[in-house]
Amino acid sequence: MVSQPDLSVNIGGLKIKNPVITASGTFGYGNELTPFYDPSLLGAIIVKGLSLKLIPGNPPPRIVETPCGLLNAIGLANIGIEAFIEEKLPSLFKNKTPIITNIYGHAIKEYAEMAKRIESVDRIAAIEINISCPNVEQGGMAFGTDPDTAAMVTDQVVKNTTKPVIVKLTPNVTDISTIARAVESAGAQAISVTNTFLGMSVDVATRQPKLANIIGGLSGPAIKPMALYLVHKVVANVEIPVIGLGGIMDYQDALEFLLVGASAIQVGTANFINPKAAIEIVNDLTDYCLREKISNINEIIGGLKTNGENHEKIGDKKNK
Ligand SMILES: Cc1cc2nc3c(=O)[nH]c(=O)nc-3n(C[C@H](O)[C@H](O)[C@H](O)COP(=O)(O)O)c2cc1C
Repeated sequence: MVSQPDLSVNIGGLKIKNPVITASGTFGYGNELTPFYDPSLLGAIIVKGLSLKLIPGNPPPRIVETPCGLLNAIGLANIGIEAFIEEKLPSLFKNKTPIITNIYGHAIKEYAEMAKRIESVDRIAAIEINISCPNVEQGGMAFGTDPDTAAMVTDQVVKNTTKPVIVKLTPNVTDISTIARAVESAGAQAISVTNTFLGMSVDVATRQPKLANIIGGLSGPAIKPMALYLVHKVVANVEIPVIGLGGIMDYQDALEFLLVGASAIQVGTANFINPKAAIEIVNDLTDYCLREKISNINEIIGGLKTNGENHEKIGDKKNK
């Protein structure tokens, strides 16, 4: 009998059985895909971004299709952390997959408070911090666009939890590696790269923006080469594990991210096109490893073959 490859990976202390995770906001609160497959077969599930209180989000239209992509301006609509813990989490006890809560706030103390609340909930395995949202205390500038603010948010979450803290970076910055190094120094155990790219779309017939919010976040295959580049750049500049995402539709896309050094991957927009995308990636990665006689998925991670120096590395990682 052929032995199954070991697909397990370690994300900053969180050991998961395979590297495939569903991305925040594209899989509801964890149970929405049960009609399609058993979510416990995934490496982990990241739930919709949660805030301290219920947020209704932006008015419609909030989603627009673009060539090879999806523009969304949901406005981080969610039921709030308490309702998630009381109403949604109990039904997730049936499966054993690690649940990662994605959190966001509009002030640093809100992130700290959420971390404190989550700390007491055993079923939640880790926290992913979304720092792409506006900081109301600093004129609405996104937390993730300034290294000091990104580090302060990370520090406040890390100080209030013993669970692994993953910081999800925004691509809408000049140099993502500066932000990555700042959150690593502040104690993040892993980094997710990337959130959506800012974009817009116009209806020429009505001359109006297609999104009520005018601007939105672009995701899907359109962003994959840019996301892959950012993962490559962040991997070169930090020691902690990086989770890669952005336009991953199938196992070949997933392999590209693993080869540039991502320790795990997330599947987002693909879930809307094919609700079985994430589980198909798990199965296809298994078949790929069997075909290529790879006994452990870690043999692939960072296996990119290049001729020389990685020009994305800033200084010497060891001298940070
Ligand atoms: C409809 C929608 C809602 C999203 N909601 C969140 C969210 O609540 N928190 C978050 O950190 N990212 C959110 N994202 C971003 C995704 O998790 C992911 O980072 C991004 O879409 C890029 O990956 P993809 O191209 O595979 O979708 C959302 C994306 C979409 C399309």
